[in-house]
Amino acid sequence: MLKPFQLFMFGLVSLATVAHAQQPQGSSGERLINILDSQAKTTQDINLLLWVAGAFSLLVLLVTGGALWWVVQKYKVRPGDKPTRPGASNEPAQFHGNNTLEVALIGVPVLIVSVLSVFTALALAKVNEKPANIAETIQVNGWQFWWDFDYEKQGFRNSNELVIPVGLPVELKVSGKDVIHSFGVSNLGGRRDALPGQTNKLILTAAKPGIYYGQCFELCGASHANMLFRVVALPQAQYNEWVSKAKAFQAGTPSDPELAQGQKVFQANCSGCHAVKGQQGGAPSFPDLSFFGNRTTFAAGIYRNVENASELSADKGDRTIDFDGTRRPATLEDWIRNSAHVKPGSLMPAFDGSMHKVKNADTGKWEDVPYTKLSDSDITAVAKYLHSLKLDGIDFKSIPEITTENSSQ
Ligand code: CUA
Repeated sequence: MLKPFQLFMFGLVSLATVAHAQQPQGSSGERLINILDSQAKTTQDINLLLWVAGAFSLLVLLVTGGALWWVVQKYKVRPGDKPTRPGASNEPAQFHGNNTLEVALIGVPVLIVSVLSVFTALALAKVNEKPANIAETIQVNGWQFWWDFDYEKQGFRNSNELVIPVGLPVELKVSGKDVIHSFGVSNLGGRRDALPGQTNKLILTAAKPGIYYGQCFELCGASHANMLFRVVALPQAQYNEWVSKAKAFQAGTPSDPELAQGQKVFQANCSGCHAVKGQQGGAPSFPDLSFFGNRTTFAAGIYRNVENASELSADKGDRTIDFDGTRRPATLEDWIRNSAHVKPGSLMPAFDGSMHKVKNADTGKWEDVPYTKLSDSDITAVAKYLHSLKLDGIDFKSIPEITTENSSQ
């Protein structure tokens, strides 16, 4: 049996563990997310409940633990104690039935639970309240292993990066498209299960501009832990600018020969799945790459998206991966060459000519078939082309990342 003190310490350690879910990637060292650091109204409502319940728990612990301690100290048998009655053992007098005590033992917990349920009902009502001034409604779809953010009314999509205005509520309609996922962004207090065939609504209001860390919270397969995303909260004027530019975006034909080559390779190999506004092709079940050049990350939030690979380094907190015995952060070229090496379970075909198993429709047997092999210069051209897909004048690089290191500014 755990003693009250051990139980209390166990509780503290558990709380510290959930409060510090570690994020694997960032630009300046280890990233720690603190769920108690709320940057949204909903989180503040939930946290109030957490503190009230915590205070009651502490009170109960102190009263019961203190009473137990006092009783043990006062009544324990000491060497040399005499029996209370002649011929009796050292056992104290036995009795049963005490109305006052029994009423107190039932009444006090009922009172505590009643008070807590009032606070819970109030917090639930606040969290579920649908404000009249919803700034945007966004369809959120969880896929193995990435997030699709569909700005349905605006007519565009973005992947793994949810851009929202500061200070205004946004309504998210969360759904899963293949298996069960869970959408969660700890500092904004949002978490909803993403279930196939169902839509769960979630209202988020970011209190201040910043890039918030989000991730999938439901074990969904090989790259569950790699199913990250960012929430970019922009001041309202900047948000409106982003929306109007995203709406108007159309990929043109590049004049630069390398970019034109990249576009050609993209059209031949990638556009069957990936949509880019202004170009043919794409399907809603694959990430939309329309303004990929503006993204802060690639591969569902696990690597920083930079045009110059020399900016990436383990010293800056970038996650590394083994490439034939050398560990280094993955580049977009690595991702295109063999995405499943960079993110296990990725469904995107490799473009390095490696072998994979395909079932022969006639014989029913699995056969080794090579993937398409793109030349290094073609892969570089596609990466450059993707980085060139940008909204003019939009840059998220100067927006602070919200972590425990800088959240209390
Ligand atoms: Cu999706 Cu875990």
